[in-house]
Amino acid sequence: MNSTTPAPQDAAAAPPPAGAGEGVPHRLSGLSGKLLVLTIVFVMLAEVFVFVPSIANFRANWLRDRLLVADVAAIALDSTTDIARDTQDQLLARAGAITIAVRQDGKRKLVAMKEMPPEITRVVDIPAMTAPMAIAAAFETLLAGDGRILLIKGPVDEAGTRIIEVVLPEDALRKALFVYSRNILLLSLVISIIAAIMVYLSLRWLIVRPLQRLRESMRRFSASPEDPGLIIRPSGRNDEIGDAEARFAAMQTELADMLGQKRHLADLGLGVSKINHDLRNILASAQLFTERLTLVPDATVQRLAPKLIASLDRALGYSQAVLAYGRAREAPPQRRLITLARLVDDVAELLNLPNHPAIAFENQVAHAIEIDADSDQLFRVLLNLARNAVQAMDGDADPNLVRRLSIKAERRGAVVDILVADTGPGVPARAREHLFKAFQGSTRPGGTGLGLAIAAELVRAHGGAIDLVDLGAGATFRIQIPDRPVDLEAARRAARK
Ligand SMILES: Nc1ncnc2c1ncn2[C@@H]1O[C@H](COP(=O)(O)OP(=O)(O)OP(=O)(O)O)[C@@H](O)[C@H]1O
Ligand SMILES: [Mg+2]
Repeated sequence: MNSTTPAPQDAAAAPPPAGAGEGVPHRLSGLSGKLLVLTIVFVMLAEVFVFVPSIANFRANWLRDRLLVADVAAIALDSTTDIARDTQDQLLARAGAITIAVRQDGKRKLVAMKEMPPEITRVVDIPAMTAPMAIAAAFETLLAGDGRILLIKGPVDEAGTRIIEVVLPEDALRKALFVYSRNILLLSLVISIIAAIMVYLSLRWLIVRPLQRLRESMRRFSASPEDPGLIIRPSGRNDEIGDAEARFAAMQTELADMLGQKRHLADLGLGVSKINHDLRNILASAQLFTERLTLVPDATVQRLAPKLIASLDRALGYSQAVLAYGRAREAPPQRRLITLARLVDDVAELLNLPNHPAIAFENQVAHAIEIDADSDQLFRVLLNLARNAVQAMDGDADPNLVRRLSIKAERRGAVVDILVADTGPGVPARAREHLFKAFQGSTRPGGTGLGLAIAAELVRAHGGAIDLVDLGAGATFRIQIPDRPVDLEAARRAARK
C-alpha cells in the first residue's frame, strides 16, 4: 500500500511537455467547473426549500404577536372606563392597530379605535390558516403594494373563547418580512457558498484529481505506448477509482508487452523477408546447376537429380510465396485431389526415411485414399510432423529402442483423418502447454518452435483440425482435413444451364 507514503514523482505527476494542453478542457467546462456550478445550484435549491416555509412561518408569528399585544391593550383599555385619548392612541400604536375588538361570550365589543377603519383588503383568520395558505399569503404580502388593510382574528386564550379582532395596515408586516427575507437570503448565500466550496473541494480531491491523473496518464501513454515508464502507478485507494487505476495499469503493462512483442516480430519478419529474398536467388542458381547434373550419365546421379530438382522447386515455391504474401500469412490453399500415399512417400523421401539407418518408416496409407487439399501445403504439414518425429527418435542413443514412424489415413465421409505416429519419447509436458503456438512450444535445442505452428495454420486454412492424441507410447498427431464445401446453389444453377 502506498496510500500513506507520498507518491514518488511518477509519470502522471510530472509537468506536462510542450503541447500538453491540447485537448484539455477549459477550467469551467471541465469536470471541476461543472461540479462547482452544480453544487452551488443544488445548495441554493435546497435553501429555497428552507426559505419558503420560513417566511410563511415568520408572517404567522408576526400576526399572532399582534393579536397578543392587542389583547394586552384590550385588557388595559377594558379595565377603566375613562381612559385618556392619548393613552388609548399609544396602546393602539404599540399594537400597530387601527381598531381592536374583543369577541367573548357571544358578544362583540369594540375596545379601541384610532380612526374610522378604512376598507379592509384581507381578513386573516389565524386558526383557519393552512400551511399552503400561509405560504401563498406570505408571497402575497411581499408582492402586493403598500396601503393594504388587514383584519386579523384569532383566539388568545387556550379554550378559544376570547377572540381578538385587530384591524391594521399591512405595511409594517411587509417591511418586517422584507428584512427577514433579505437576512435569510444573505445567510443562505453564505451557507451555500461555504457548502459548495466544501463539497467542491472534497469531490475534487476524491474524484476530479484522480480522474485528471488517470486522463493525463492515458494521454501520455497513448502518445508512446511502448514506454513502460509511462505506466500509471496505482495510488492504492480501495474504491472504484483505485480499482480503475489498478486495472488500467495492468492493461498498460499488457499493452506495452504486446507492443514490444509485436515490434520484435515485425523486426523478425523483416529479417526473414531479407533472408528469403536472397535465398530465393541462391536456390534458383542451385536449381540451374542441378539441371545440368541430369546430363551426367551416372546412374545414381540420374536417379537423384530429379528428386533434387523437385526439392529445390518446392523450396523456391515457398520462398516465392512467403515474399508474395508478406511476413506471416500463408497463401490460401489451392485445393486439388491428391493421392495421399504418394505425397507421404515424397515426404519420406525428402527426409531420407526409406534408407534411414535407425528409423523404420511405414507408409500405411491405402493407395485409394484421395484427399482434397493443397499439395504443397499438405506436404509441409506432413514434413514438419515427420521431421519432429525423426528428431525426437534420433535423440535416443539406446540401440535396443524401437524407432518407427508410421503414417496412416482413413476417409470417413467427407473427412480424411491422417495419423502420424512415432515410437519416440512422446511430447514433453512443457511443450504441450504451448503446442501449435509460434515460438513458444519448442523444447529442442536449436528448435524455433515454428514447425507445429505452421502445420496448424495450414491445416486450419483447409478448414481442418490438428491435435496431439495420446495413443500409448510415443507421439501421435492427428490431422483432419475435410473436403472443400460445395456451394449447393451454384451447383444447382450449373445443373440448370
Ligand atoms: N513427435 C514428437 N515427439 C516428441 N516431441 C515432439 C514431437 N513433435 C513435437 N514435439 C515437441 O514439440 C516441440 C515443438 O515442436 P515444433 O515443431 O513446433 O518446434 P521445433 O521442432 O522445436 O522447432 P522447428 O521450428 O525447427 O520445428 C518440440 O520442441 C518438441 O519438444
Ligand atoms: Mg519441428
